[in-house]
Amino acid sequence: MSKVEMNNVSLAFHDEDKTFLALDNINIKIEEGEFVCIIGTSGCGKSTLISLLAGLNFPTQGDVLIDGEPVSGTGTNRGMVFQHYSLFPWLTAKKNVAFGIKQTNLYKDKKIIDEIAVEFLKQVGLEDYIDKYPYQLSGGMQQRVAIARTLAMDTEILLLDEPFGAIDPKNRLALQDLTIKLCKKGENHKNRKNRKAAVFVTHDIDEAIILADRIVFMEPKRVKEEITVDFPSELSREEIISSPRYSEIRTRLMNLFYQDVGNRIGGEEVVL
Ligand SMILES: Nc1ncnc2c1ncn2[C@@H]1O[C@H](COP(=O)(O)OP(=O)(O)O)[C@@H](O)[C@H]1O
Ligand SMILES: [Mg+2]
Repeated sequence: MSKVEMNNVSLAFHDEDKTFLALDNINIKIEEGEFVCIIGTSGCGKSTLISLLAGLNFPTQGDVLIDGEPVSGTGTNRGMVFQHYSLFPWLTAKKNVAFGIKQTNLYKDKKIIDEIAVEFLKQVGLEDYIDKYPYQLSGGMQQRVAIARTLAMDTEILLLDEPFGAIDPKNRLALQDLTIKLCKKGENHKNRKNRKAAVFVTHDIDEAIILADRIVFMEPKRVKEEITVDFPSELSREEIISSPRYSEIRTRLMNLFYQDVGNRIGGEEVVL
């Protein structure tokens, strides 16, 4: 049994008299502690796929299973970062993160919850903004609060939908390193080692290769190809980037993007 399974999953949206098939027979398995990146052109169904794993949506056909059980709604075993930041506007950055930690029922003591919230806000570089409200923060900063909230929840499964899309390049690299530390090396605030199963949607080929154990390339509605990313965990970012395997994976992904866009030019609008 895998940690997460999608078996023959299809999903159709119904709008008045029209039906639109957004996902067509998706099969994906994710093992415990495995980091999977989903990559593909805009509109191919990445957010729809992740919404099924989150339990925010349900398949028209097929099964979505977590620990062998059908997903029946949202749950505290899954932490989610949405494509568009989603904070409570009436709570400060610290209280937004603390809210997430409280949901997991891991801690009862308010002081400890606040300490963890502050620690995670520091980890995303927001130590000077702890008591600010969302409207006092830039879009990228709000997204970093949302990321801190989800990472602080220390769930065994993470669902991340283009979490770094709105973030500047310097903070983006720092957040990738933080993601590797917390998810892939499993180092959290209690120094417990627990690697997380993660589904991470990104447009960025380099980000996918740096983060993923496996990359799932989607064409519209379907999985086109899966690529295992097999760098030894002790390699640094620089060592990975300069290796022949990195170039090989990169070239393959570029070709998949070009094929996908090429197939559709003249048809639908294509946005990379
Ligand atoms: N609620 C909805 N109703 C109808 N169509 C939708 C809905 N949500 C998404 N879609 C359509 O499903 C397709 C996949 O969307 P989405 O999963 O958001 O793509 P991605 O995240 O890969 O950019 C798109 O064509 C989109 O327009
Ligand atoms: Mg999307």
